Amino acid sequence: MKAFALPPFCLCVFLFFLPSPAVLAAEHGGRLDVLMYKNAGCACCNQWAAHLEKNGFRVKIEESANLAARRRALGMDERFSSCHTAKIGKILVEGHVPAADVRRLLAEQSRPKTARSDVIGLAAPGMPQGSPGMESEQPEDFDTLLIRADGSSSVYRRHLAKRNR
Ligand code: CU
Ligand code: CU
Repeated sequence: MKAFALPPFCLCVFLFFLPSPAVLAAEHGGRLDVLMYKNAGCACCNQWAAHLEKNGFRVKIEESANLAARRRALGMDERFSSCHTAKIGKILVEGHVPAADVRRLLAEQSRPKTARSDVIGLAAPGMPQGSPGMESEQPEDFDTLLIRADGSSSVYRRHLAKRNR
């Protein structure tokens, strides 16, 4: 409870340096707009969309007869492919990426200090068991990858399966 003993201006300074999802959301009319392309009949895509909706996004779904071609046209490499490709602001999100990772990258890309022009988005290749929208009795570890325009990638965030269940 020590924090409440701080003079009010300290709190103001602290809040100033926090990532600002509120500011981000305001830019998109209250919620962050997502355009998700998916194959018709894929149920887990809808589950992922519901996960995003629960976390402050507004998802528009477009079924694609040729998702691979759509993915290529958007600029996401086949090697990172999953069951859906989404456009959120200036980034692409491939597959069952947790909403928190999406928010983190959007915040980073919105600030001049941390924005990187070579970054095109995030991907969770394949369909990892236990990822958002892929709830499972046998969750597995998976990585969210940061994808760059040159086709390279690196681990953005590790997600460890909850083994204590
Ligand atoms: Cu899926
Ligand atoms: Cu999907």
